[in-house]
Amino acid sequence: KTCILIGAPVDSGKDRRGCLMGPDAYRTAGLSEALSDLGHKVQDMGNLTPATHAPDTGESKLVRPNETVGWTNRLIRVAEDAMGRGLPIFMGGDHSLSLGSVAGVANHAATKDRPLFVLWLDAHSDYHTPETTGSGNLHGTPLGYVTGRSGFGGFPAITNPVPQENICIIGLRSVDAAERQALQQTAIRRHDMRSIDETGIAAPLAAFLDHVAAANGLLHVSLDVDFLDPMIAPAVGTTVPGGATMREAHLVMEMICDSDLMTSLDLVELNPFLDDHGRTAMVMVDLAASSLGRRVFDRPT
Ligand code: ARG
Ligand code: MN
Ligand code: MN
Ligand code: MN
Repeated sequence: KTCILIGAPVDSGKDRRGCLMGPDAYRTAGLSEALSDLGHKVQDMGNLTPATHAPDTGESKLVRPNETVGWTNRLIRVAEDAMGRGLPIFMGGDHSLSLGSVAGVANHAATKDRPLFVLWLDAHSDYHTPETTGSGNLHGTPLGYVTGRSGFGGFPAITNPVPQENICIIGLRSVDAAERQALQQTAIRRHDMRSIDETGIAAPLAAFLDHVAAANGLLHVSLDVDFLDPMIAPAVGTTVPGGATMREAHLVMEMICDSDLMTSLDLVELNPFLDDHGRTAMVMVDLAASSLGRRVFDRPT
């Protein structure tokens, strides 16, 4: 495959700073080398900047909404373009980058007449709108935006909303009341840690991947660092205890690889300022490698 590394140092989606260092931490941890060792072509496009935007004055209840609009405009265009050339890997940056990456990938899918599916690996559902968010942090809103919820005035209009039934969230253990209420009215597939404890992580994932394959869909994977347990991935501003183990996370990525369905990937929320000698960055690089072919043994076919 041709992997297109896209540095998206988005740091406007929440109060706490540091995700802007994410792309360079992934480079330092050897993402490009890990993928080329697996036989992929790798192109690093360097780091993006947001499109021109109005200054943020601090009057909004939202944290830096105009900068986030600038990022969204930039990332939609870059995602549309990269999808025509290979498998984009968006190196974040906080999760507000997915307003742009997913919207752009959805536009590309529409031009190919293929349905887009989204696998959201996250402790949080990120289903707020600017109207329902309590924190004002737009990293809590990307699934609200790409499904076409209202309240995103100032952001580019969603031309190709992702259908609810095409979305699967795995890892949930922190969902705000307004999100829970809204999600319960939707067909979004959602698996919390309790259900993972009961059924294992492979069963819901396999069901979703089968569904994507049957529909000949494109698959966007959005991996939030806080999907992982903080014991193995401390470098994120929104840690929630009780997350995926190293083994569960690798299994997810290996199953994604075996399915050969993934057409784009976000690596989001890494805050290298909080990391322990690059440990979390290296875990994320290893997970990306698992999703693109790294394995202990070949499997009998
Ligand atoms: N629901 C919370 C909020 O809106 C947390 C969102 C966390 N999102 C994330 N991408 N880490 O503030
Ligand atoms: Mn600015
Ligand atoms: Mn998230
Ligand atoms: Mn999260």
